[in-house]
Parts: sequence; structure tokens; C-alpha cells
Amino acid sequence: MALPAHVRIVEVGPRDGLQNEKTLVATADKIALVDRLSATGLRTIEATSFVSPKWVPQLADAAEVYAGIDRRPGVSYPVLVPNEQGYERARAVGAAEVAVFTAASEAFNRKNINASIDESIERFRPVLERAAADGVRVRGYVSTVLGCPYQGEVPVADVVRVARRLHALGCYEVSLGDTIGIGTPGKARAMLRAVADAVPVSALAVHFHDTYGQALANLLACLGEGVAVVDAAVSGTGGCPYARGASGNVATEDVVYMLQGLGIDTGVDLDALIDTGRWLAALLGRDSGSKVGRARSSA
Ligand code: HMG
Ligand code: MG
Repeated sequence: MALPAHVRIVEVGPRDGLQNEKTLVATADKIALVDRLSATGLRTIEATSFVSPKWVPQLADAAEVYAGIDRRPGVSYPVLVPNEQGYERARAVGAAEVAVFTAASEAFNRKNINASIDESIERFRPVLERAAADGVRVRGYVSTVLGCPYQGEVPVADVVRVARRLHALGCYEVSLGDTIGIGTPGKARAMLRAVADAVPVSALAVHFHDTYGQALANLLACLGEGVAVVDAAVSGTGGCPYARGASGNVATEDVVYMLQGLGIDTGVDLDALIDTGRWLAALLGRDSGSKVGRARSSA
């Protein structure tokens, strides 16, 4: 299949990128990060997460962050919600898009959200009903689509089943997450093909972590199957605190660079994105996790 002419990037740095940071990032810096990202031309920025602050203390200031960002017209700012309580907190500050999340692996789900897959879907049902009534769009995540840190192999049939259920529940888009970055392109392609038999490929996104350095290769394999929505985190930040061994997301700078090289439009200003990645790396006191960002800094 031909590669898509346009790819929409879902920037998850302010959420996935920060949730695993041990040192608390100041609320003002989180707000500045989102505002810098929206100035680069990114059109979807996952701003924060309304999960339990006991589980993810780093994002306890979700309401302040969401209220403080400069919400640009034409940009969506989805937020993560694990249950109705999260949905209510998100709505109280005016969130117009939310994301629910579950996994293809029972073992991971239990560690991450203290629920079985079935229980998590039952928690989402009222969230989706209320969202439909409120005119709020809901994205769905399936984690551990190419392997689980606790269970090991994850059958493709389990990924298909969970993705189908989220889509049937009303999620307009289902993001398939290689939570621990363990997949390889052949596996990613086979998984994507199987899911695309059950959920239209136009409603699918991919979410690769880069633990084993396979994220761009996996991404390209899935673009070849018709996927045109890609999750990424500026400066390659990210990881799930409840996924042993998970490391950063594929870096947005690297994704934009690759797509530009393929002649695929993203609407993102790469130089502005690199500047933001550099700014974030300095803030976190480390080198950028983006190879493109590092190459451009030393050039
Ligand atoms: P639980 O302890 O089973 O829930 O946690 P509970 O209902 O018994 O609540 C415990 C306490 O949390 C209560 O407070 C609740 O009020 C409170 P207490 O009575 O003890 O004072 N609480 C909340 N507070 C604020 N906002 C809420 C909320 N819900 C309950 N929404 C729960 C269950 C789901 C809440 C918890 O497990 C949780 O928050 N987990 C989130 C873990 C997380 O954020 N993981 C990272 C995101 S997923 C990810 O990164 C993967 C992804 O990137 C894709 C990929 O890479 O694969 C998306
Ligand atoms: Mg993730």
C-alpha cells in the first residue's frame, strides 16, 4: 500500500513524556511545554492526565496545567482519564477530548489500573456515554500490543478483541501501544493487519516506545499498511511507571524528520520542534532523546 500523503502526529510528551519523571516538573514549565508545542504546528497535544495523583504524583497538577495552557483554535488537547472521576475532573476545567486506556494483557492492566480488561471496559462505558451526551471526543489506547513486561507474549487475537471493543464502545480512534518498545517491524505489521480487519484503519493510530531502537522501523511498517496517525513525544521522553523496562516514546523530531524525507506532510515546523526538544532536555537535565535533535545541536 502507498504511504499516506499526510500524517497527523499526536504529541504525547506533556503526558506520557512527563508521567515517568521522578523529579517534579513545575506546573508553569508543563504549561510552557504545551504552549511551545502548539506553536510548532502540532494539531493534537495530549496535555496531561486526570489519573489518581496517588498513582502518578507527577501529574497531580493536571487541572492547573489544563487551565493554564493557551488553547489555540484548531488544536485538540486530549487528556487521559481512567474512570468517571477522571472524566469529571477533566470536564470541570473544560476538556473537550479525553482518552481512555486499557491493555491487551491482563497482567499489565492489573498493575497499571488495578483492573481486569473487562472491568476497565465497564469503567469506560459511563465515560463514553457521558462524553457522547457532552459532545466530547474519546480516544482509546490499547497497551502491550507487541509484548507485556509481566505476561511476555501477547496473542494478536487479544489485541484485536480489545481494539474492537474500544471502537464499538465509541472511541473515534484506537491507539495501539507497544508499551515496552519490544516489537519489530514484521510483528508490528502483522498485528496492524489483524486489527485493521476488525477496526477501519482510518480509526487506528500507532504508539511506539523505542526501548529496543525499533520504533521508527515499526512506524514505517504500519504507515505502509495505511495508518496515518502517529503518537510521539518531543525529545523522546516517556514511559509508563507501571511497565517495568519501558523507556521513551519515539521522538517527535525523529518522526517529523523521517516523514519529511519521505515527502509526507505533517504541518510541523521541525526547527521549532527541535528547539522545544532542546529546551525540555535542558529542563530535565539530560541530553535530548531525539537523534535528530542531538545531530542538529552539534551541527
Ligand atoms: P484504585 O486504587 O484501584 O482506585 O486505582 P480507587 O477507585 O480505589 O481509588 C483510590 C483513590 O484514588 C481514591 O482516593 C480515589 O478517590 C482516587 P482515596 O479515597 O484513597 O483518597 N481516585 C482518583 N483521584 C483523582 N482522579 C481520578 C481518580 N480515580 C480514583 N481519576 C486507578 C485505580 C485507575 C484510579 C489508578 O490505578 C490509576 O490512576 N492508574 C493510572 C496509572 C497511569 O496513569 N499509568 C500511565 C498511563 S497508561 C500508559 O502510559 C500507556 C499509554 O501511554 C500507551 C502505551 O504506551 O501502551 C497510554
Ligand atoms: Mg506510552
